[in-house]
Amino acid sequence: MRNYSASKLGQHDLWHTAGWIKLALASATPDNPHISNPFVVTHSSLHPPIIMFSCCCLSTALIGAALISILSFLVPYILDGYVFKEQDLKRRYNAKWALVTGASSGIGRALTHKLAKQGINVVMVAVDDALLTSVHEKMTKEFPALSFRKVGVNLGVSGYMASITAATSDILPTLIFNNAGYIATGLFSDSPLNSLMANYECNATAPIQITHHFVTRMVEEGKRDGTSKMRGAVFFTSSPAGLMPCPTTVMYGATKAFITEFATSVAADIYPDGIDVLVVNPSPVDTGFYSGNKHDMNSMKFFQRTATSPEHVASCFLKSIGRTLVCEQGYFAFTLKMILKLIDVNLIAAIIQRTSTMNGDYAKLIKQRNTNKKE
Ligand SMILES: NC(=O)c1ccc[n+]([C@@H]2O[C@H](COP(=O)([O-])OP(=O)(O)OC[C@H]3O[C@@H](n4cnc5c(N)ncnc54)[C@H](OP(=O)(O)O)[C@@H]3O)[C@@H](O)[C@H]2O)c1
Repeated sequence: MRNYSASKLGQHDLWHTAGWIKLALASATPDNPHISNPFVVTHSSLHPPIIMFSCCCLSTALIGAALISILSFLVPYILDGYVFKEQDLKRRYNAKWALVTGASSGIGRALTHKLAKQGINVVMVAVDDALLTSVHEKMTKEFPALSFRKVGVNLGVSGYMASITAATSDILPTLIFNNAGYIATGLFSDSPLNSLMANYECNATAPIQITHHFVTRMVEEGKRDGTSKMRGAVFFTSSPAGLMPCPTTVMYGATKAFITEFATSVAADIYPDGIDVLVVNPSPVDTGFYSGNKHDMNSMKFFQRTATSPEHVASCFLKSIGRTLVCEQGYFAFTLKMILKLIDVNLIAAIIQRTSTMNGDYAKLIKQRNTNKKE
């Protein structure tokens, strides 16, 4: 017979725990003659009320856990989406300059416009093309009292920091929007490594470099100032895609998962320096995001059909900064988070893995691979 004595377990509370475990064991194996002291649990002592009580405790604990899990997501989701109002960032952060990557199109362009409406000058970073030039001209015309600096760089190839540093050497943007990014479609093994790494550089590495440069400057400025901390904020446009596997667009979800993790980690490091961080995970947004893809993907067409406006998403940045850390925007982020509360990502990943050949986009890409081989 096993000895469950308290002297062996050593602790008073362990004594009680052992008793409960034995009680549970006894419920499971009521005929086991070895279950005995110190809480002598015999078959005859297993009254239905005890079983009922145990079941009630268990179900209460499960319901409590489910409620905490759902409410800890739902409350900020409702506050971000329906309660918070846009804040005046110029006043809140005493901001003179902001820097927006991907300012020539979509969310970045909408952000630039919103910042200008608040009287904030903007450093506009994007691909050095006619689009950036024309958006820069439009902003300058619409807001003649403000300054807009354009920095045309490819964030997918290292070397862009020299241009960004040079363009901001005489000013200190204290609102940094790491927004530029894109999705590269195609099967992993059919995609040239340099194009995958360029996607990685633009979506993940560039935000680290830019954040490090400006956060360091803000902290230095705060120290120089001596009396007060430099107030500032760093924003990241991530994606709910980072919460789940993204076959046929492998770098996208991976870089977005990285960005969310990086941002939420760095947030704790720089908060004491007076710098806030916000990650926004937008659901589909009607932008250039869907037009630059090499492949004709059904999933992309579906998401585009359900997209919201870039102005709506830009508004989330102004509403949530300094209030929440990760803002889940829209139906897709909501649905995915709720599914992940019910089913672990491990199982979802296994299902996606085992059913990839049933995915229409995968089939299309395989067909294309075979056609390319024949040519
Ligand atoms: N649209 C969505 O459904 C959606 C959903 C979740 C998250 N997001 C994220 O939102 C962010 C903004 O995208 P968007 O939807 O506004 O798309 P967008 O309209 O295509 O805007 C992307 C911006 O980033 C710039 N950019 C792209 N690649 C660049 C590079 N290599 N170097 C420098 N600039 C580059 C683009 O410049 P050019 O226009 O000159 O190329 C453009 O200004 C991205 O990080 C994206 O991942 C979008």
